[in-house]
Amino acid sequence: MLILAIESSCDETAAAVVQDGRAVRSSCVASQIEMHTIYGGVVPEIASRRHVEAVTVLAQQALEQAGAARSDLDAVAVTYAPGLIGAVLVGVNFAKAAAYALGVPVIPVHHVRGHIAANYITHRSLEPPFVCLCVSGGTTAIVDVRDYTEMEVLGSTRDDAAGECFDKVARVLGIGYPGGAPMDRLSRGGDPARYELPRAHVQGAELDMSFSGLKTAALNLIHNAAQKGEELSLPDFAASFGQAVSDSLVPRLMEASRRRGYGRVAVAGGVAANSRLRADLTAACARSGDSLYLPDLKLCGDNAAMIGCQGYYEWKAGHTAGLDLNGYATRDIALG
Ligand code: KG4
Repeated sequence: MLILAIESSCDETAAAVVQDGRAVRSSCVASQIEMHTIYGGVVPEIASRRHVEAVTVLAQQALEQAGAARSDLDAVAVTYAPGLIGAVLVGVNFAKAAAYALGVPVIPVHHVRGHIAANYITHRSLEPPFVCLCVSGGTTAIVDVRDYTEMEVLGSTRDDAAGECFDKVARVLGIGYPGGAPMDRLSRGGDPARYELPRAHVQGAELDMSFSGLKTAALNLIHNAAQKGEELSLPDFAASFGQAVSDSLVPRLMEASRRRGYGRVAVAGGVAANSRLRADLTAACARSGDSLYLPDLKLCGDNAAMIGCQGYYEWKAGHTAGLDLNGYATRDIALG
């Protein structure tokens, strides 16, 4: 089963060719980050226009790198939700046109399900059920992956996503966009106990999270230091911030795992690349005895290989779409 996969939900255009779910024959990603850096965040219309320019070329590249012809393809998988709607629609429309021209089915894939599937590519033996922490720029959720296409959200953020929080704080510090990776680099060697930052609890919903208070506290700390003319230690601040994010995520994931009892936990999404989070998860799983699955660093961010992988399992479950498929800005992961 050879799938051409397309991803265009945010600021990366990506195309990949994936065989039988887990064998990535090619994976091409064109990042728009440089384009959006001057604005300090993604400008939706610019993102959509860049996807329009890039998507066909990338699909062609992905086929060439895979050594595959168009006639070899059995289906086209595409991220159809959630994301910036104008950006999502570019990928959906391209995928439908390609599927129509080739006479093959189109497979709609939920973006966050794709992030989870990045773990299947990295860990060939991993199979559901497991509990997965999904942490990216738009999502922070703990998901019970009961089966490849059967999922339940056990807890999620009530406000900001963890990645969004990294990005906002980094922007105010002026250390780059997107801010997660530069904050992570800065934090190495920093003292995570130097600055006091809050860890929120949602009363009555132990697996839910909240990051808006942490974001506000971090921004206040930066502004207060500037007003008083005090110099903030950037490594210590970045380490303290990263620790507060990790402390808000890891215990909840471990509690979710304890409740479900699968003995397997995974992490997915851009923030899954965070070194503090990876180290804390490794330590927590060593204590609990759970097996931990961390995706390859190059598969944490947006890519189309993960969409092709999840697309394969959606196809196996009979989840193909008609040519009237639409894109959606938001969609429950449990609905697929
Ligand atoms: O999964 P992703 O590429 O896009 C979405 O689907 O949202 O995630 C992007 C997010 C950004 O917020 C970025 O700052 C964050 O992932 N990120 C990180 C790291 N690398 C990327 N956050 C913390 N530490 C990192 N090393």
